[in-house]
Formats: sequence, structure tokens, C-alpha cells
Amino acid sequence: MNIIAVVAQKGGTGKSTVIANLAVAAHLSERRTIVVDTDPQGCIVNWSRARQAAEPAVIYGKAAAIHPMRFAAERAGLDLMLIDTRASSIEDSLDAAKAAQLTLVVVRPTAIDLHAIRKTIEALKPLGRPAAFVLNQAPSRRVDREPAIVGAAVELLLDYGLALAPVALRSRGIYQTAFAQGLSPQELDPEGLAAGELRALWEHVSERLAWAGASIPARIPRGPERPVAEKNRNIEHS
Ligand SMILES: Nc1ncnc2c1ncn2[C@@H]1O[C@H](COP(=O)(O)OP(=O)(O)OP(=O)(O)O)[C@@H](O)[C@H]1O
Ligand SMILES: [Mg+2]
Repeated sequence: MNIIAVVAQKGGTGKSTVIANLAVAAHLSERRTIVVDTDPQGCIVNWSRARQAAEPAVIYGKAAAIHPMRFAAERAGLDLMLIDTRASSIEDSLDAAKAAQLTLVVVRPTAIDLHAIRKTIEALKPLGRPAAFVLNQAPSRRVDREPAIVGAAVELLLDYGLALAPVALRSRGIYQTAFAQGLSPQELDPEGLAAGELRALWEHVSERLAWAGASIPARIPRGPERPVAEKNRNIEHS
């Protein structure tokens, strides 16, 4: 079973939004998926209550108790566990990241977020586990031009030395309206721009995981990541 953790010490970057939408994307790709909501706020649990569908499964659990939940999920034959974490708890972030094949660090392209993310990266780096930034709530491209704050954020994130997912999630109202209904934009408006971003993000994330015995590197090598990261200088999906 693969495990993905989503972390950021800064509040409100979009961790829960990313987790819920990746869970739906995985489910739509026929991966048997469970989400563990380790945040006492219970955002994902509430999202799941608003959902008509039973899948993906959502449970509440403490980050320190991931291992028993993981063994139970493996015994149940699940393919993927997604772990949502709370802000401001390095311990929870590390518990989740240690269990995960891939940790996603969700960050907005603002000076406050980009500064705050340093603490998260400094905590994650010593683990030597695969991790990648996901840029969320990025302003949309205007005609053919990337907003300057997105370009600046990409430069800064690359300097932190982690991979950067080659698709940014833009700031769009549908992420909020879909979440309120227990849905993903992929379900609410499958042809829309947000749905396209989410499909591309899931495709990227899925490729990084060890499905069907494929191997993943123990550490994301900085060199080979550069060509992927280069694409971010002209992030697509406006
Ligand atoms: N791409 C987006 N476009 C528009 N709104 C977004 C987007 N991503 C997240 N939001 C909104 O931003 C707010 C914070 O998102 P979310 O709750 O997912 O962040 P979080 O990191 O999980 O927060 P917390 O640290 O409190 O757990 C929510 O109102 C959410 O609907
Ligand atoms: Mg949250």
C-alpha cells in the first residue's frame, strides 16, 4: 500500500483541499483509497459527511497511531492511504512523513507562506524521504503570462532543493464550492480547469509511487528533478 502525507506548518495553505481532491482522483483511477484525518479540526471528516458516496473511505486518527491504521488498511487490501495533518505540529508532520512514500508540502505563492515553509523543510530534510512542493492558490495566468508572484515563488521553492510538482492548483472558487458539498471539482465540473489541474497533479503523484512493485528512489535526487522543475517556470493549466 502506498502512503501520501500532506504537511505544512503554516495554516490554511490548502492541505485538506489537496488531500480530499487527491483522494477523489485516486478513487476515480480505481485505487482503493482511505484518508486518515489527523487534524482535530476534522475538515476531511466533515467533507466526507457531506458526501453522498461512501468512497473514498475517511477515518479520524492520531498521527502517532498511523502504524496500526496502516496495518489494518493493508490487511483490508487497500491501495492508498492519504494522511491529512494539522498545521503547527512538527511531531504530527514527521510521524506522517516517516510513514509515507511521498510527502507533499502545500504552499501558496505569497511571501508569508514562502518564508514560513522553511521550518517545514528543515524538519523534513533530515528524514531523507521523498517529498515535493505543491503550489496551491496560485493566481491564474493572464493570456499567456504567468503572474510575477508565481514565477518568483517557483524560483524560491527550487532553491529549497525539494522537487516541485509540475502543476500548480490555481485559486478558483470551485475548490471551495465542491469541498462544501463533499465533492471534488473533478466530480462537480469534470471538464473544468480545476478538474484538469487535479487530473494532472494526480498523474504526477501517481507516477512517483511504487505501484505494482515499481521502485522509487529513497531520496529525491536534485539533479534529475531539475528538468521537471524547469517546466514550472512556465506552469501550465491556466
Ligand atoms: N486552490 C484553491 N482555490 C481557492 N480556494 C482554496 C484553494 N485551496 C484551498 N482553498 C481554500 O482555502 C482555505 C484553506 O484551505 P484548507 O482548509 O484546505 O487549508 P489547510 O492547509 O488544510 O488549513 P489548516 O492548516 O487549517 O488545516 C479553505 O477555505 C479552502 O476552501
Ligand atoms: Mg486542513
